[in-house]
Amino acid sequence: MAQRSWKTINPSGTKRVIVTKNLPGTRWLEVLSDAGCAVEVHQDARELTIADIVAAIGERCDGAIGYPTESWGEELFSALKAAGGRAYSNYAVGYNNVDLNAATGNGIPVGNTPGVLTETTAEMAVALTFAAARRVSEAERFLRAGRWPAVGYPPTLFLGERLFRKTLGIVGAGRIGEAYARMMVEGHKMNLIYYSPHRNERLETYIQRYNAFLRGEGVHWVTCRRASSLDELLEASDVVSLHTVLNDSTRHLINAERLARMKPNAVFVNVSRGPVVDETALVEHLRKHPDFRAGLDVFENEPELAPGLTELENVVLVPHVGSATLWTREGMATLAAANVAGILMGYPVWNRLDVGAFLSAEPPMAAPSILNATELSLPLY
Ligand code: 8YV
Repeated sequence: MAQRSWKTINPSGTKRVIVTKNLPGTRWLEVLSDAGCAVEVHQDARELTIADIVAAIGERCDGAIGYPTESWGEELFSALKAAGGRAYSNYAVGYNNVDLNAATGNGIPVGNTPGVLTETTAEMAVALTFAAARRVSEAERFLRAGRWPAVGYPPTLFLGERLFRKTLGIVGAGRIGEAYARMMVEGHKMNLIYYSPHRNERLETYIQRYNAFLRGEGVHWVTCRRASSLDELLEASDVVSLHTVLNDSTRHLINAERLARMKPNAVFVNVSRGPVVDETALVEHLRKHPDFRAGLDVFENEPELAPGLTELENVVLVPHVGSATLWTREGMATLAAANVAGILMGYPVWNRLDVGAFLSAEPPMAAPSILNATELSLPLY
């Protein structure tokens, strides 16, 4: 390990915590320092290998904050345990890079950072939806290339899709899916279909109440229903947006056959995880159906893209920046720090969905979000 690529904050701390990326803001460092931690932060943008992280854990390490591009499995959790480690937090809400069984087997609580990404990521889904539907990137490329004067103002220049009162299908109705659905229903009066393993009563009730408001305004109401199958949703929707977790049951959930079920002029959005989509099949589908448009924040083999994807006009591409606002990224750092600090301080685990209190100047004496709290029989707040 090149020592100069690591910087120690609060070197007099008695507990040692390693952090594999330099995170934004300073609050997270205060949280760890206040808990008596010396915090060793990797300064380089370069990705660390598992061997690099094992070396960084070394012989004594109380806790770690890792990144979703790192594979936290048996090798890292057993190294952490052997070094006396008692806490790990992912710097992400998603945790498909973490082997929870391996962590639990080594007795290590695993934290994640929910809540602070919800609206930010939903807003990116909205941005991609409209950028794809209204061909924003394509039109900008045309303009920047100086091609406008040659065509003038033909009435058919960059015709796109109008989404007002059309049908929105969301796959996965957790926090981010729900926030996106509300934005699209309220803002654009879209009728909602959702596909989810669980009924989202809160969302359904919210839309019922919203309808009462619309009726009061003398405006036509919107509809909301849970699809009985994914195929039903794909066939009925004008916009299909993915908000599911990545696991064995969702890998390549959207494949060639499922793409073929969608409307030929559908808008398809993914801000969840790349491998939920068979990206090669998507490239083929976009190629064959120029009126089918996609907006993608996540990719199957990040940071690589499937061959041919960047050559297509009918797709808007951004590099996994769905949660990229300073407020969110600082909030994620604070929650990750509070997870590790809370466990190292022997605090119980927060048992509510709303983690906003952890961003305040006087946070609760708890670890905000520990995924294997039940399995490890940790006390709850
Ligand atoms: C990344 C995400 O964590 O939190 C998640 O699950 O997908 C992202 O927000 C983030 O981009 C890491 O910097």
